[in-house]
Amino acid sequence: MRAAGKGRFRQRPDPVAEKFSRSVHFDRRLAHHDLEGSRAHAAVLAKAGILSRKEAAAIRKGLDRIEAEISRGKFRWKDSLEDVHMNIEAALTARIAAGAKLHTGRSRNDQVATDLRLWIRETIRGDEKAVCGLQRALLGLADRNAEVILPGYTHLQRAQPVFLAHHLLAYVEMLERDKGRLRDAARRADVLPLGSGALAGSTLGLDRNVARKFLGFREVTANSMDAVSDRDFLVEYLAAVALGGVHLSRLAEDLILFSSSEFGFLKFGEAFTTGSSLMPQKRNPDMAELVRGKSGRLTGHLVSLLTLLKGLPLTYNRDLQEDKEAVFDAADTWRSSLEVMAAAVASVQVDAGACLYAASAPELLATDVADALVRTGIPFRRAHQLVGAAVRAAEEKGTRMDRLERGDWPELNEREWREVSAVLQGVSPSARLRKALVARDAVVGAPAPGQVRFQLRRWAKILRS
Ligand code: ARG
Repeated sequence: MRAAGKGRFRQRPDPVAEKFSRSVHFDRRLAHHDLEGSRAHAAVLAKAGILSRKEAAAIRKGLDRIEAEISRGKFRWKDSLEDVHMNIEAALTARIAAGAKLHTGRSRNDQVATDLRLWIRETIRGDEKAVCGLQRALLGLADRNAEVILPGYTHLQRAQPVFLAHHLLAYVEMLERDKGRLRDAARRADVLPLGSGALAGSTLGLDRNVARKFLGFREVTANSMDAVSDRDFLVEYLAAVALGGVHLSRLAEDLILFSSSEFGFLKFGEAFTTGSSLMPQKRNPDMAELVRGKSGRLTGHLVSLLTLLKGLPLTYNRDLQEDKEAVFDAADTWRSSLEVMAAAVASVQVDAGACLYAASAPELLATDVADALVRTGIPFRRAHQLVGAAVRAAEEKGTRMDRLERGDWPELNEREWREVSAVLQGVSPSARLRKALVARDAVVGAPAPGQVRFQLRRWAKILRS
């Protein structure tokens, strides 16, 4: 923003240029952080003797009033003032003469970098809570269905039986890593750029630590040129969020598959599904589909910002203004996806019978049979062949593996046959499956009853706080 005939310029900006470059319609989202940064800067200027105590107090009061107006929706944002920083400064100066001193030793370059770091700190705090919310929903669903056994899949082919709780806790693990990445991004963003000026600090002997303490940053940036052009912290946030979105998308995909008639393992609550305008019978998992779809946006925003940064010479370039819409949209998309997934997961009803039925095919225990042969001393590769031959024999006879007889395993001796029978025969499918899962209890991280119970308790404790 500039007035005609003042300072360097004789001409006002062309309206097309003005419209093209303005950002107030989206960067006003930083208003609260911008005001906080200005309060901190006023304290720095007061300490340097550039503002008298009276002037500093007047500025603080003016900023408070502007803040109240913004909160009440009463503040008059002006497009002609380009961005959030100019809008607030102009409003302040119109009310308080000393407002014209506030921009001493400060540039919008260190100002916007500061605002963004304050914003990301607050945003990540909220994100962490939202991630915990989804973890709790998953844990709740796992707890309510702690005994449910279903097939685990590789290549989307039934592979080995697992507890549903184990499957769900896999996502709790992923989300915990997401939280770790968010915290990590927040920690590296916790450095204050204010005081770096446009790119080279100032001649006014400003004590940056005053602002650091005021705003609660861990330290101040060590290089003014880096400070005004660095957006790595936003890249890190977008990377964490893009991967988080991928996790949500995979969860959505599992739930969509499992809720299809082909699987029939579960149903979303009606409130999280939609009907078809044409087909009266439909109950579509739209929320999960949207979460899966929106994750593409998150990946896109990460790529946008990386591309934006890659050709920039030091230091500040106006290109950087393009960072905001990407991170704001990513933050909103990520947060709402977490929230809707938490609610949708909490609404899920599991069909334990359908899960058990799918897991009961004896072929899912083929590896367990091979393990049993290994215990008799047969090398695993050989055991694999023997069991593979039995599976084939069952297929050719049109029967199931557990209905094969002694004669169908011609190469086994008595002891080996007994081991095989012990895994496959004589009990109900659910007892057989349970036994197979119990047999894994010594392996840390396996889908065994003791292991899963331990993990359920561990997560309950972690997520309680
Ligand atoms: N709206 C600008 C941005 O978001 C603020 C900084 C403008 N600085 C400048 N030298 N034009 O990047």
